[in-house]
Amino acid sequence: MSGRKKLIFANWKMHFSVKQATAFAKKLSEKKIDEGVVVAVAPATISLSPVSETLAKCDIATIAQNGYHRDEGAFTGETSMPMLRGIAKFVLVGHSERRHVFNESNELIRAKMSAAVRSGIKPILCIGETLMEKEHYHTSTVISSQLEVGLADLTSDEVGDAVIAYEPVWALSNGKDFSKHKMPAPDDIKKAVDLIRGNIKELYGIDAASKVKILYGGSSNADNATAILSVNGLDGLLVGGASLGVATFWPMVEAAGRVYKDNLTDKK
Ligand code: 13P
Repeated sequence: MSGRKKLIFANWKMHFSVKQATAFAKKLSEKKIDEGVVVAVAPATISLSPVSETLAKCDIATIAQNGYHRDEGAFTGETSMPMLRGIAKFVLVGHSERRHVFNESNELIRAKMSAAVRSGIKPILCIGETLMEKEHYHTSTVISSQLEVGLADLTSDEVGDAVIAYEPVWALSNGKDFSKHKMPAPDDIKKAVDLIRGNIKELYGIDAASKVKILYGGSSNADNATAILSVNGLDGLLVGGASLGVATFWPMVEAAGRVYKDNLTDKK
């Protein structure tokens, strides 16, 4: 799949005060992004608006880390998808920390997916198996069912426009010392990517399957970015811990530029 842009998306999770997030965004906005690379960042909700203003004049988009499925009402503490309009281009839906720390069900995730699409925010559906599910050889079943339920209310065109992030829960980092973290080999990531595209082809047709963007997330960093980004069919990375500093994050953006360029050369 040469010629497709590489997406390097940063999930800052619950890090940075508003001031820190804005200052970090300012630093990123001064960087030059190579051809063929798309960069986006997901700050905490409170920083979304100032970060999006800071990035307004550069090519870095903003991602909301979460959004509620109801448009408005008595839902203390929640932010609706319509509220994100004009501030975030993307929204993470079903991140494993939402599924496992906040007990979000596949059904709630399904409702959030359609709320995002309805509001014109591109959803990034996060899926992936836990360690226990992997050890019981349930990886494919988990991927397929999370995908099927999460996308159930979307049309083929909407699925083609969406982003899927494969993030095996057991591979997520604590943001430091990546050498100690387990993660899937590029071949295993390729199997997951093929399974995701295969399922989407079956359910939504070949156009949606080839258009949909697929990211990998889980302990990705500057040392392994090139190998992962070279996985055929993978469109990019959703980076957690390594996205929290320019020195650890920007080499990944540069690696994406090199992989994009190499793919173009291979095609010639
Ligand atoms: P890490 O890159 O820190 O493993 O986190 C991945 C992730 O959860 C991105 O959403």
